[in-house]
Amino acid sequence: MLNYINLKYKTLKTDLICEFYLEPNKITIEKAAAHVALESSIGTWTDIGTMNKRIAKTLKPSVFYINKKSNIIKIAYSQDLFEKGNMPEILSSIAGNIFGMSAVKNLRLIDISFPESIIKSFKGPSFGIKGIRKITGIKNRPLTGTIIKPKLGLNEKEHAKVAYDAWIGGLDIVKDDENLTSMKFNRFNKRVIETLKMRDKAEKETGETKIYMPNVTAETNEMLKRAKFVKANGGRYIMIDIITAGWSALQTLRNADLGLVIHAHRAGHAAFTRNQKHGISMLTIAKVARLIGVDQLHIGAIVGKMTGTKHEVKDIGENIENQIIHKNSSHILEQKWYNIKPTLAVCSGGLHPGCIPSLMKIMGNNIVIQCGGGCHGHPDGTKAGAIAIRQAVNSSIKKIPLKTYAEGHKELKKALNKFGIIS
Ligand code: 3PG
Ligand code: 3PG
Ligand code: MG
Repeated sequence: MLNYINLKYKTLKTDLICEFYLEPNKITIEKAAAHVALESSIGTWTDIGTMNKRIAKTLKPSVFYINKKSNIIKIAYSQDLFEKGNMPEILSSIAGNIFGMSAVKNLRLIDISFPESIIKSFKGPSFGIKGIRKITGIKNRPLTGTIIKPKLGLNEKEHAKVAYDAWIGGLDIVKDDENLTSMKFNRFNKRVIETLKMRDKAEKETGETKIYMPNVTAETNEMLKRAKFVKANGGRYIMIDIITAGWSALQTLRNADLGLVIHAHRAGHAAFTRNQKHGISMLTIAKVARLIGVDQLHIGAIVGKMTGTKHEVKDIGENIENQIIHKNSSHILEQKWYNIKPTLAVCSGGLHPGCIPSLMKIMGNNIVIQCGGGCHGHPDGTKAGAIAIRQAVNSSIKKIPLKTYAEGHKELKKALNKFGIIS
């Protein structure tokens, strides 16, 4: 059996490096680490007569770090093991069979550091944070948004009217929910036409740029068709559920270069990000999504209903590569990454006006704040909910405590009475 453990290995700038949390299954951590290394690259569970010196020399990865206390291992892989620009293949190697091996009790891919050659083989976001701020005209405050609720059931006109109320109340963005695509009670094309009509009306009445993010998630060809329909009808954004649509579909959508801002919902991620001992970290998902090229990415709510330990979501809020928390908590989605533009972090899931100051304190202003129930659940309805959300953002920007600010802003006061304050 080839020896994959080499604690003296000096990593090359051209290596792809993976950090794993590894709990061996009744064998030593070294043995289990060797199994992870071979199964994610060139080997299999037993030695084979077809292996040869050339392969071993050029393509064998090295386990160069093993910490038996923290169960952390690091593996360096030659960049030649991976097809440039092919994310499914990269993940089929380093996030494929290994999770199911009997050699591991638990295994979690915590982080990947990609070499320049692989990074440059992906497009990254087409707009990035600068491009989004240019389109929306929002210089430095967080973008605010809502998700049309109920998630499903409204018809196209009802959907558009709720969107209008949210925009008139002051929200910048309205998105479809992650499971709204095209149903008999709400057809995609009709919904896009009706809602963009309301967007234009709201823009005229408020003088602000308003964004609608229709959910194009579907079979890839259909998804491209729907994205082109949005473009042809004056839409600027589309939304895609990146986990359920899949990495190839996301690459196809990005590579189509439709000139639409891509908003990435991550529904389904918790199947493998939630368990801190097994699966794939949200940090890794965030890097993969940014590399392929999403302009906005859901990263959790920090203070809302979705899971995402403070540390993990904070991780994305920290520059994990060198563990530096920048003053404006610039993070993995924003860190300098060769030609790859920064992705705008989207905080969503159980958020309401009472969460907003603490959210902005942790994440800074380069975020989208989305409230679904936290908007439409306002005692006076969607428009008042939207006003309350903007008021909460303003209180934070003006550094006035929420409760004080609410004294002079009735919509915020009612929202805080119903939802409370999360500090
Ligand atoms: C697969 O691709 O199905 C596995 O790599 C099977 O290979 P194995 O039989 O050597 O595990
Ligand atoms: C989303 O799609 O972001 C969530 O559905 C947010 O909805 P909520 O604010 O009601 O949790
Ligand atoms: Mg949702």
